[in-house]
Amino acid sequence: MTEISKIAFARPGRAPKGVLVVLAGDGLKLGAATSALGIDALVRRAAKAADFSGKSMKVLDILAPAHSGLERLIVVGAGKPAELGEQDWLRLGGAAMGALARGATATVLLERPDGAELDPAAAADFALGLALRSYSFSKYKPTKDANGNAIAKPPAAVTVWVADPARVRAAWAARSAIADGVGMARDLVNEPANVLGPVEFAKEAAGLKSLGVAVEILDEKRMAKLGMRALLGVAQGSPRPPRLVVMRWNGGKAKQAPLAFVGKGVVFDTGGISIKPAGGMEDMKGDMAGAAAVTGLMRVLATRKAKVNAVGVIGLVENAVDGNAQRPGDIVAAMSGRTIEIINTDAEGRLVLADALHYTETRFKPKFIVDLATLTGAIIVALGHHHAGLFATDDGLAEKLRAAGEATGERVWRMPLSSDYDKIIDSKFADVKNSGGRSAGSITAAQFLKRFVKETPWVHLDVAGTAMDSPQTEINRSWSSGWGVRLLNRLVADGFEG
Ligand code: BES
Ligand code: MN
Ligand code: ZN
Repeated sequence: MTEISKIAFARPGRAPKGVLVVLAGDGLKLGAATSALGIDALVRRAAKAADFSGKSMKVLDILAPAHSGLERLIVVGAGKPAELGEQDWLRLGGAAMGALARGATATVLLERPDGAELDPAAAADFALGLALRSYSFSKYKPTKDANGNAIAKPPAAVTVWVADPARVRAAWAARSAIADGVGMARDLVNEPANVLGPVEFAKEAAGLKSLGVAVEILDEKRMAKLGMRALLGVAQGSPRPPRLVVMRWNGGKAKQAPLAFVGKGVVFDTGGISIKPAGGMEDMKGDMAGAAAVTGLMRVLATRKAKVNAVGVIGLVENAVDGNAQRPGDIVAAMSGRTIEIINTDAEGRLVLADALHYTETRFKPKFIVDLATLTGAIIVALGHHHAGLFATDDGLAEKLRAAGEATGERVWRMPLSSDYDKIIDSKFADVKNSGGRSAGSITAAQFLKRFVKETPWVHLDVAGTAMDSPQTEINRSWSSGWGVRLLNRLVADGFEG
């Protein structure tokens, strides 16, 4: 279902057709293969008129003369190519795709404008930028405008001309997997809740079987038997039954403990009886972004055949308003045996995760658990949309995630955990209450989760600000970013494979 451009690599040709993208460095420097196309004069004239000098990320869009065989020539500024890092190549690819929007046939001639050899990894990062930016969620949009003209769409395929296609293809394989996984996560988050309920989400996850992922789907009966009353309490107000999905990728050594990733999958969050205000409630179709990231990650790991054992567990429920819905004051027993007093039915994500975390820890005895959840509005107040909140019981894992965040641009910011915050959620009637009120809302939510993880190193990522209503960047123009897929894939690749 994902709509992203297919990327192919070839040696530079002589006569590009359609739209051609080239790079220019500072001072309008062009590489040798670019100059060989005889476009120098054209670029210089247009650059002068448009005040374009090759500065990084700037784009010069030229309507090509009829005799050239090209429709358009797009020059993307690469500034000082020697100074470009991984993120820059990714963003350059994104900028190029942004300018490509209307081409049917598109070619990118990719070389270092300063004459140095282009690192295959940099070329592949550029290609990943192309693919990520080409994503659009337009299945419910008209394909023609009021005048009957087709609405611009990214090209279905882009050919990237590079000096050494074989080496770039080798570097692209893992990144192509990333593009697919991010695309899948974005799709799941963008899809409205009338289309994507718990059952439908589980079906999408089951699709990963074709990649060699073992997928188990637990229905309400199984969950009831396991004693998952916290998760089931959230689901009981919805006519759409909940699901718990377990995805396992075993690419590592047989005896190796798996890495575990757990996701909040509230397909829609009305708030329940503690109902949310109407304004902006439509965004709550994205309250399953944690589960979407976990699913996208499992897809990446399987597609690129990662040498690791990993398990993804997602709790899928709808938090609805109904006569059967859970009430404030209700007390439920979680699978771990702990009793929870419901103070606010809108603090439902932590209830779902309480059971998903306990189940994951006791069944799989993983090396670590990372959970992702659009857990609190308070994390948006604290960090906005540019860092996810990170809570950790393990400094080493926290540091690895910080580093993976810097490397991928999916950044995290560590927040505190302590017994002082933990006390806030002690309950008068039960072991714990599900809301500690307004102050330190993200921290008390994390303290709640912590009570359901016994001894496994654990990190909680509050992605309410980063996974949806996402900042518009060079590599994403969609409401959903697919946040977390690249971060966690990097965590795995850099620290836990082989
Ligand atoms: N899904 C929301 C958190 C959220 C808010 C995600 C905005 C994305 C954007 C979560 O279930 C919730 O409602 N949290 C409450 C907790 C409160 C009742 C203790 C919140 O943040 O207000
Ligand atoms: Mn809620
Ligand atoms: Zn929620």
